[in-house]
Amino acid sequence: MNKYIDLIESSLDNYLEIKYPEKIYEAMRYSVLGGGKRIRAMITLLTSEALGCNHNNTLPFACAIEMIHAYSLIHDDLPAMDDDDLRRGKPTNHKIFGEAMAILAGDALLNRAFEIMSNFCVKNSEPQFIKAMNVISKASGANGMIGGQVMDILSEGQEINAEILEYIYKNKTSALFKASFCSGAYVTNASAEIIEKFELMADYFGISFQIKDDLLDIHSTEEVLGKPINSDEKNDKATYIKIHGLEKAEKDYLEYSEKTLQILESLDLCDTELYRYIKNAFERTY
Ligand code: IPE
Ligand code: IPE
Ligand code: MG
Ligand code: MG
Ligand code: MG
Repeated sequence: MNKYIDLIESSLDNYLEIKYPEKIYEAMRYSVLGGGKRIRAMITLLTSEALGCNHNNTLPFACAIEMIHAYSLIHDDLPAMDDDDLRRGKPTNHKIFGEAMAILAGDALLNRAFEIMSNFCVKNSEPQFIKAMNVISKASGANGMIGGQVMDILSEGQEINAEILEYIYKNKTSALFKASFCSGAYVTNASAEIIEKFELMADYFGISFQIKDDLLDIHSTEEVLGKPINSDEKNDKATYIKIHGLEKAEKDYLEYSEKTLQILESLDLCDTELYRYIKNAFERTY
């Protein structure tokens, strides 16, 4: 998979060329380059590849999602949110650049993401590319990732029910995976049936991904994760473990992982890099 990661990293580097005022580009580059598993960008590339499209048409969308993800992490770590000091093994953005610049770097990454996508759409005006940008814009906003972050914050210290927890997971985490799978599918001009299956799969994949993140927050170490452990307990977060207990969290993690793979199987995509990558992602330890 290294060739794909290199492609993503070098494209991100090119998209974030330093200009005036340098400080904001330094802060943006600090959080985007040199770290992160790149799962969302990989999913976008591998989905379009599995459905028969070349990487040139997919990279702008893959990199845009990675920038939106990086912005969400910068803001997620701020003192007003999860108040964490370590990310990807380095001090968090606000620890290096200060809170004001960290907020602005997040904002600038979100805008850069849409500039990259819209530049591409201006040159390639086929509807499938506009649809890819559209699914990413919906998934990032108040009815997607931000909505999930809102309910995550409002649920701190609260006794919430399983329905609200599901809303939080499907939005703060699954939504950007939906953006990844579906933008990768849209650029190939995939049918509505295929898009629908990828939407459902993204829900399952995102829920399993967040359960694992919450389990690692309890069971892993700062050295392995590159971020603080026990962050959820510190903030009295609504997690799958808090609401359903450890045993059910571990059991449901496997169940959501299995359901994800079943959808790929039903799409006849078992013999693809996408399938192998997703299967492998369930074994992650950080
Ligand atoms: C962290 O995402 C935020 C969650 C949704 C749990 P990742 O675990 O993909 O973070 P990086 O990009 O690899 O650092
Ligand atoms: C974050 O969830 C989801 C985002 C949208 C950033 P977490 O707050 O659990 O992510 P980590 O553990 O800080 O990476
Ligand atoms: Mg958070
Ligand atoms: Mg956090
Ligand atoms: Mg977490």
